[in-house]
Amino acid sequence: MNNFTYSIPTKIYFGKGQIEHLTELKESGRRVLLVYGGGSIKRAGIYDTAMKLLGEAGLSVFELSGVEPNPRIQTVRRGAGICRQENIEMVLAIGGGSTIDCAKVVAAAAKYDGDAWDLVLNPELIKEALPIYTVLTLAATGSEMDQFAVISDMTKNEKWGTEGECLKPKMSILDPEYTYTVSAKQTAAGTADIMSHTLETYFTAVPDAAVQARFCEGLLKTLIQYGPVALKEPDNYEARANLMWAGSLAINGLCKGGAEVTWCVHPIEHELSAFYDITHGEGLAIMTPYWMDYALSDKTVSKFAEYGRNVWDLTGDDDMLIARQSIACTREFFKKLNLPSALSEVGIDETHLEIMAEKAEKGCEGAYVPLTKEAILSIYKAAL
Ligand code: NZQ
Ligand code: ZN
Repeated sequence: MNNFTYSIPTKIYFGKGQIEHLTELKESGRRVLLVYGGGSIKRAGIYDTAMKLLGEAGLSVFELSGVEPNPRIQTVRRGAGICRQENIEMVLAIGGGSTIDCAKVVAAAAKYDGDAWDLVLNPELIKEALPIYTVLTLAATGSEMDQFAVISDMTKNEKWGTEGECLKPKMSILDPEYTYTVSAKQTAAGTADIMSHTLETYFTAVPDAAVQARFCEGLLKTLIQYGPVALKEPDNYEARANLMWAGSLAINGLCKGGAEVTWCVHPIEHELSAFYDITHGEGLAIMTPYWMDYALSDKTVSKFAEYGRNVWDLTGDDDMLIARQSIACTREFFKKLNLPSALSEVGIDETHLEIMAEKAEKGCEGAYVPLTKEAILSIYKAAL
């Protein structure tokens, strides 16, 4: 196991009715920028509840609305402008990962003199940020408890992740009931995203990080159990609660610290979103099994067999057979969630694959299995 530091300043309020803790925002001042997306929080009544609580706490609320799925740098700039103009003291994101990511970079841009896009391209420039609070409404990215944010400039087909310790939220409210209204498509995509975060970490070359591997297996089994339940019964509290907490734990360092590895399916997916604006989790569901096909070899077979036995409960002595079956199980599971399994299903053809592979290669340096541009291109082509 590698040396590591594990430090999460995010206070989590998990469960029904926890939104009442929004009044604690007054610890960070009086002027708050409320960041949200296309209106789901208004339809679900969360907006009204939040406004009432913030008003009771004596906070002045300014708004940045209309954050897009795959949030745009132009929206971040708009938010940073409001922060400067209105002397905003903290940001509150209510929504999914896109809203939270946008709010995070707004919070950092408010403290930065240059253009916000610099902060996306150069994480080292993120030195400070306004305090970040979140109310999560979609179990997927884990942004509510991590240091990452992913922002796009669609005018350039660019989508990049940035990070900073100061981007970890100060407080996040996780009420599983707020995810009852999430569509079947987004529920499935969110489940695939959480699975991918876990798998990207599970497939590491660091030996003897057993506790991290067992955490990963526990998360994966939980997702396999509850993803289909949440699809069938959107208001099943137990299912929504387990998906929500798994989403936070998959990416908050619990599984990765000490078992470090560069993620690779994510950079491969981010190019799909950058060029075609597709749903992140759907892209991951397509690419993950094809990456697995590529990654399985005599060198990696024992890890895949471990995955097959411990996650999918496969039995038998033949490691290669178990490994192949584990990939088939992964594919089948995504199909069971009605997720797409080929790029053509989400409108992607060969047109940009070459440039996408070239760009993705940069993000894959240090991956579990080395990936050249040619290798990534072959994975994209297999997935067509
Ligand atoms: O915009 P609204 O109206 O809120 O609707 C959203 C959006 O259309 C809707 N939604 C959210 N909560 C809902 C709801 N609809 C009904 N009821 C609710 N309770 O769902 C749609 C998708 O929302 P979005 O925030 O885009 O989804 P997600 O949470 O999957 O976030 C995806 C973004 O996060 C990035 C992805 O690349 C993508 O840009 N990621 C961020 C990461 C991080 N910060 O650590 C890591 C991830 O790997 C990922 O890359
Ligand atoms: Zn992801």
